[in-house]
Amino acid sequence: MNVVVGVGGGIAAYKAAELARALGERGCAVNTVMTRSAQEFVRPLTFAALTGRKVITDLFADRSADEVLASSVEHIRVARENQLLIVAPATADLLARFANGLADDFLTTLYLAFSGPVLIAPAMNAQMWNHPATQANLALLKARGVEVVEPGSGPLACGEVGAGRLAEPGLIAERALALLAPARRDFEGETVLITAGPTQEALDPVRFISNRSSGKMGYALAEDAARRGARVVLVSGPVNLAAPAGVEIVHVRSAADMRNAVLEQLTAATMVIKSAAVADYYLENAPPQKMKKAAMRMSIELSPTPDILAEVGRIKGDRLLIGFAAETQNLAAEARRKLETKNADMIVGNLVSQEGVGLESDMNEVILVRRGADPLALPKATKRQIATQILDEALRLRLALHAVTRS
Ligand code: CTP
Repeated sequence: MNVVVGVGGGIAAYKAAELARALGERGCAVNTVMTRSAQEFVRPLTFAALTGRKVITDLFADRSADEVLASSVEHIRVARENQLLIVAPATADLLARFANGLADDFLTTLYLAFSGPVLIAPAMNAQMWNHPATQANLALLKARGVEVVEPGSGPLACGEVGAGRLAEPGLIAERALALLAPARRDFEGETVLITAGPTQEALDPVRFISNRSSGKMGYALAEDAARRGARVVLVSGPVNLAAPAGVEIVHVRSAADMRNAVLEQLTAATMVIKSAAVADYYLENAPPQKMKKAAMRMSIELSPTPDILAEVGRIKGDRLLIGFAAETQNLAAEARRKLETKNADMIVGNLVSQEGVGLESDMNEVILVRRGADPLALPKATKRQIATQILDEALRLRLALHAVTRS
């Protein structure tokens, strides 16, 4: 498997050397392309020694006219001969140039000429990462199908603490290999309806009740199901995530909106996965004007929202229905109770009180409580890996349940 590692100029450039090694260990032939500024941080020789291959350092730099002529199609050759382009670290500048289609050095030219999958691992100062310009560029690239390994949080080289650290090289290599693996098309013919994110219940025109759900679990499910050949309809509450490639998205705000969207899309669905963290209560007849502050205590009477999962459970027919249970205690028992009361086929239960997994994290650790089977504990993994395992289990469960109804 031939892959290109494009190295951008940043402190994290040295970690790209670890990435090149990790890819080599996993059987990839690694071709390195370094931007001019990357070479200020790490010498090309490091990569040449680690990969056993010549490192490409620039488009026409320091070459004779003959060499320029010979190499003027080199980016096309590299684009053709490699199955994956990984950019790590991707600087804010590289993201901007990719997003705008600029092509003034080898790496940006290669990016435009490359028709295979592209995996980008950004790393930069937290302010730069959070800047709307960077986030807009990133959203654009994701919308065009670029895969992103999000940076982690922690102390940064600039002395600040925040998001912007390059993801671990091992994790980037793992994502790269997953992209290179031929996609299983085991969801072909399925229409999967997925809900994700929180809902927002208005208290007045500017305030709402909501929760800390990020939507990452539901988006990971949508992305994996689409990659595996399903038609995917994603009904999403307000989140900060770009729609995964190839997924039809319906944006909603409140539980009532989400219910309407789900019922509208249900007919076509063969499988329903309710990963949304739906608010349980809302304010009926929220005032049309902003509530004014008064010096006394106030109380608001809330009404229960419709339980969408339970409603779908009553009318699901032979659709496979998967719900979630976010608990702070008695996980297995609560998940089992929800499986029965909501007539689901599987409940994905997770403890939301644990540090480092669940609600806002990229990681999760869940148990799968299944109809007619013992609970299955999935060890801590990225939400993408958990999503793949949930979908694997969904297909197995469908076969098992069909076998029971036929016999
Ligand atoms: N759910 C739903 N509609 C609601 C509330 C929850 O469809 N109004 C779904 C969620 O999408 C999830 C499952 O029900 O798949 C369980 O959600 P959870 O909040 O864990 O459970 P609740 O039913 O709210 O029960 P409890 O508050 O007792 O934990």
